[in-house]
Amino acid sequence: MGACRHRHRCDGRIGFPKQQTDMTAKKSPEELRSYRWLGRDDLRSFGHRSRLRQFGYDRADWAGKPVIGIINTWSEINACHGHLRARADDVKRGIWQAGGFPVELPAMSLAEPFVKPSTMLYRNFLAMECEELLRSHPIDGAVLMGGCDKTTPGLIMGAISMGLPAIYVPAGPMLRGNWRGNTLGSGSDAWKYWDEKRAGRIGDAEWNEIEGGISRSFGTCMVMGTAATMMAIAEALGLTLPGASSIPAVDANHPRMCSAAGRRIVDMVWEDLTPQKIVTPAAFDNAIRVHMALGGSTNAIIHVIAMARRVGIPLDMARFDALSREVPVIANITPSGKYLMEDFFYAGGLRALMAKMQSLLDLSCLTVTGKSLGDGIAGAEVHHPDVIRALNDPLYPEGATAVLTGNLAPHGCVMKPAAADQRFLKHRGKAIAFENYNEMAREVDRDDLDVTPDHILVLKNGGPKGGPGMPEWGMLPIPKKLLRAGVRDMVRISDARMSGTSYGACILHVAPESYVGGPLAFVQTGDEIEIDVPGRRIHLHVGDDELARRRAAWTPPAPHYPRGYGAMFSAHIGQADEGCDFDFLEGQAAIAEPEIH
Ligand code: FES
Repeated sequence: MGACRHRHRCDGRIGFPKQQTDMTAKKSPEELRSYRWLGRDDLRSFGHRSRLRQFGYDRADWAGKPVIGIINTWSEINACHGHLRARADDVKRGIWQAGGFPVELPAMSLAEPFVKPSTMLYRNFLAMECEELLRSHPIDGAVLMGGCDKTTPGLIMGAISMGLPAIYVPAGPMLRGNWRGNTLGSGSDAWKYWDEKRAGRIGDAEWNEIEGGISRSFGTCMVMGTAATMMAIAEALGLTLPGASSIPAVDANHPRMCSAAGRRIVDMVWEDLTPQKIVTPAAFDNAIRVHMALGGSTNAIIHVIAMARRVGIPLDMARFDALSREVPVIANITPSGKYLMEDFFYAGGLRALMAKMQSLLDLSCLTVTGKSLGDGIAGAEVHHPDVIRALNDPLYPEGATAVLTGNLAPHGCVMKPAAADQRFLKHRGKAIAFENYNEMAREVDRDDLDVTPDHILVLKNGGPKGGPGMPEWGMLPIPKKLLRAGVRDMVRISDARMSGTSYGACILHVAPESYVGGPLAFVQTGDEIEIDVPGRRIHLHVGDDELARRRAAWTPPAPHYPRGYGAMFSAHIGQADEGCDFDFLEGQAAIAEPEIH
């Protein structure tokens, strides 16, 4: 069998500096993993080949070629990935061009708006599915297609654990929203105008128009939410082609990026360029610094810790806090700033942002191109200096995320100071505590609720086990009586997460969570809580004796699931500060290749 070994070149199109790997090919066709399925002269291989012929393929289509699995999270209920069915064909075009054999493998789509109780319940499910799809099939390398929040970490965690060469193809953001000439941002403007509706400032007709204008094309949320943050982190880690994460989903650059990724993965297989060679501790530091400069979503902390632990890097929240103090927010994007991802792309995108902050990055890190991160951003320029600011003219002087600890959160909690009313960064107030989301939803809009803007709303049982699945409940609604008085922010504390499109003085991911007996479980209405973001402290002003008395009187809640995936989730899920991975998925222990008999 003769291998197609020609090297392909990309022109210097927007976002794609010339790919020109000088890595020496290492594998022979007989060393391809797929050879065990397709290359041998035995009965099983006969069966595999005859089933490929059933599709109309012939030996010339696969013989001696790397088999590339395209893990596609397209579905008909996930508009963020609505274009990925067609984009998979662009990826295949590139794979064929480069002498590979493409096989599309559908995987769980995790549509953020639809999957209940939370997509976070299923991130690890997707990670397992990705890993096992690759392991159980004759696959030599993988193209990972996703973008909607949990799909990026889920696919990357699975690919890391499988350890085959893999390249990430981000779905890209949708176009800007529009309502009566006003720009609308995903999520962020939904929350904003919902508050306006609750306050009686807009009516049903306006609300209906906003519903039709806020999501105008396929693609992910177009603010710096979790999707945009995680796609950028994938690029900063070196797992995408340079510039890939910033391209709007419907821009013609996007299908070109997809076919370039298809060409590149074939060479990556011959080079045996696995994720383990790319996602080093230095690459994770780069990713965290980029996250901070972007003013990225708090959710990224959980996902990045989980990804790092899959390669055996013991990353923790303290590293985020340390790096956050060194990196200013320079991306002026909603919800921390005012522009949207489409503007970010026109301003030069992530390559330009990384070029602006290159003094803070390790540019020697290897990427999927086979070249360095520095090579990938060479020549990138900022075209709109208000969208991508200079380091000495930041939007916010410190990083996106502050990690607080104290007797209320012994293992930490997180806050996004740039997206909060600055007066709450040092604050002491009385708690109004809700035992669960339903109680909060029932009570929060009551006219007789005894609440002022200085109160602190506390939500329990929103964590990994308690939610379950750590739903995005952390941006608790401002009580209606305060909304009517013009209040738009107040301190809110929970063990839940918050959408990356959300904003406000929300303290999240309190660990350990209340459901397992973390101190949050013992907060009562009227307790005083003190927050000191510059000092990174959070303190519940209740004496140790009283806390011990409350703990002794506490009864653990009943399990959510009697059987099924939820029961497995509850038995094995880690806490937020640990990345919420399953205990049995962490680590690097080698798993044998499947027997073929
Ligand atoms: Fe898919 Fe926001 S709903 S990225």
